[in-house]
This record gives sequence, C-alpha cells and structure tokens, in this order.
Amino acid sequence: MSTTRERATGDLYDQLVLEDRVHRRIYTDQDIFTEEMTKVFGACWVYVGHASELSGANAFMTGTLGGRPIIITRDAGGDIHVLLNRCLHRGATVCRVERGRAKRFVCPYHGWSYANDGSLTGVPWPSGYAPEFDPAKYSLGRARVAVYRDFIFATLHPSPPAIEDHLGAARPLLDYWIDRFPGGKVTARSGAHRMDCQSNWKLVMDNSTDGYHPAFSHRALLQMAQRLGETKDMAYFAESPDDGDMYCRYLGNGHSFIDQRPNYRKPGDYWATQRPTPGREAIEARIRAQYGEEEATRLLDLTVGSQMNLSIFPNLLIIGNQIQSLRPVAVDRTILLWQATTSEELPEELNTLRMRTQEDFPSFGEPDDLANFGECQRGLSIPEVEWVLMNRGYGIEGRQSLDPDGGVTAPTTDETPMRGYIHHWKALMQSDTPVVAEGVA
Ligand code: FES
Ligand SMILES: [Fe+2]
Repeated sequence: MSTTRERATGDLYDQLVLEDRVHRRIYTDQDIFTEEMTKVFGACWVYVGHASELSGANAFMTGTLGGRPIIITRDAGGDIHVLLNRCLHRGATVCRVERGRAKRFVCPYHGWSYANDGSLTGVPWPSGYAPEFDPAKYSLGRARVAVYRDFIFATLHPSPPAIEDHLGAARPLLDYWIDRFPGGKVTARSGAHRMDCQSNWKLVMDNSTDGYHPAFSHRALLQMAQRLGETKDMAYFAESPDDGDMYCRYLGNGHSFIDQRPNYRKPGDYWATQRPTPGREAIEARIRAQYGEEEATRLLDLTVGSQMNLSIFPNLLIIGNQIQSLRPVAVDRTILLWQATTSEELPEELNTLRMRTQEDFPSFGEPDDLANFGECQRGLSIPEVEWVLMNRGYGIEGRQSLDPDGGVTAPTTDETPMRGYIHHWKALMQSDTPVVAEGVA
C-alpha cells in the first residue's frame, strides 16, 4: 500500500493511472475504495433517486451515498431532502424500511424523533438532559441536494458546482432522453431489477460505454435475434461496429456516451427492430387501429429504448429506456439497480410494453455482463499481472476527433470513454476537497 508521502503528493495515482492503462489495484485495494467513498462519492454530485418515486407530501425512500445510509424525503411543502440515516444520539439508523410515507422518523433505539427535514423534534424524558442541551444542534446530517428535471443528486461537497455545470455536455443528451417522454415527464418505476455484482463499481462504469464487448459477451442474445431471420436491436454490434455512423464519445467531467441512434434511420425503425415481447402483436394491432398509421408508429417507437448509452459520472447510467444506478458496497461488490420508466401520458398498454423491456436486456443480456464483472474481479486478484489495458484506439493518428466542447469522439469499439473517465477519477483522487454534512454540530 502507499506511503503517507505518496498520498500527500499524489504520486500514487500518477503511478496507477497511465495514459493507456490502469493498475489492477484501483479495482482491488481496500484503502483506495475507502478513499473513493469520500473523494468521489462524497465530493461529486451522486444520483440518489428520481422525484417520481417520492409522490406526494411526506414520501421517503432509503438509499446510499458512497456507502452511507441515507433517507431521501419530500417534506409537506414539497422540498426534497437527503438525510444521513444516523441518529445523533448513539448512531443507530433511524429509518429501516425501503420506502413509505412519514412526517417524522423515530429512532427505534431510544426514541429520539426527527422531522422529515432532519430536524430533531423531541427526545424522551428531556428533563434528563442539562439545560444547555440544544436540540437544534442535533438534527440529522444533510447532504446538499440538486434536482435536475426530477433526477435527484446529492453531495457532501461544501460548495459544489451547479448541477448544470456538473452535467456539462451530458446535459443536452439527458434532456433529449427526457424529452422523448410526452410532456417531458418521466416516471421511474420503483420495482427495480436489483443486481448484485461481485465486482468493483468501476468495472461497471468501464463497461457502460464499452462498444467492444457486445458481439462477444452477448453472443447468445444476438444469435437468438438472428434466428428470427431479421435484423434486430444491437445486431450492428456483431457486424462491423466501427464502420457505420455509430460512435462513442467522452463528454468531459467523467461522463461518456455511445450513440446507437444513427442505426435507426426512419420512424418505425425502433419498434421494428425490437426483439419479441409478450403482447407485442396484439397491442400493436390495437394501437394501429385506434391511432392510425402515423401516430401509432410514433407511439410504438416510444415504447422501446432511446438507443443511447449515457453514463453520468459516477453512478447514473441511462441505457435504452431504463435508468440504472450503481451503489458501491465493498471494494469487490456493487449493487446495480435497473428501473423501468413509463409516462403518465402514454396509453397504458404502451407503458406495459415499456415495462416488458425489463424482461429483455436486463434478463437476457445483463447476466452476461455481471458474469464478466465478477470474472474480471477474480482475474484482477492475481498480483503478478498488474496492468489493465484501456488502449484500444489509442495512438492511432486521425482515429479520434476533438469536439468543440472539449469532448473526444471515436469509433464505437474504442476505449476512449474509459480513458476519459478514469483520468477524471484520478484528478478527484488527487484532490483534497473536504466533505461535510450540513447540520451536524
Ligand atoms: S441511538 Fe437513536 S435514540 Fe439512541
Ligand atoms: Fe453488455
């Protein structure tokens, strides 16, 4: 492990992150993981949930912020708070259920009670405390909160950048994805696919804009589609993914993107290339009869994915029509949530089809990825083989282009997004941003 001097000068991360490769220790070292939970998951804007999951006054849900248990609440006035789920008395969590509705949280240990904005509202038998005991000093710790078009972000950075600045070049892409929903309003379904990855969280991030692996990792899924005798969604990954108009891009601030949209050229293509879905033909026939050809084509296209893989550093992944978020649990364990999305303005049958997509890639494709994440973690446990290559597309003149906004665009199978985000990660790990919870005396 590093010496104090290495850490103080940042030498360690200069040694572990090179231009075209990273050291295995960034995925396996417990001390580095602990440091990340402060420098990345403490100091960055971290996605913690979607406002549609907090419907109505006094709704709440629990989650994590870099491993810290949190409660995300909506108070009676509609404001959203992200509270550290840790009683100020002796440290117990005050909320122990996944979601619900509550004006206050009463700590099960000795009964201290907190309003859903975090303030301490009462302690049992207060005469047992000295006169100078001031309840105002014992509210639950709070993270700073930013809500961007219903996406809730939290941070312990004392003076974070505006969320719009953090999103940067990812922002118009997120806007595009949200604006595909009628009225620009997304409903995130709380019944998520919950996947337990036996791997470091960065292996999930690395893969989120990896256009090199689908042809091989997801061969069974792609062959299943081929047997249907038609070109189906993602088939282009198996053919010559670098030759078409599809591309990958590093967007800056750790964010990255694969754009599959150029493979879809006319209205109806999205719908036509989807793999079989239960109810597909019957619902399609009803929608076409009810809405007419043009409107039905538009609506049916909205039931399938956006053909975007947008990774918003450090833990929000917009893939297809789903919202994924990752929660680091340990150096070699990560929880990955996949949430379906619906629209209050789409006919209910089409929302059903949208939710059916949860049975497609997350069931038939993501297990391939999970297996590889776990096997990478196992392989990376071998100390004698030190380096992880991220050099695909590196050092080839003219292969990637600098975008006017500072991003980098490259052929789909290049590891450009990985090199970009890992250097952003390195800069954060070399920085000394203090992290603090608001409200803690
Ligand atoms: S630990 Fe919460 S009231 Fe004692
Ligand atoms: Fe994959």
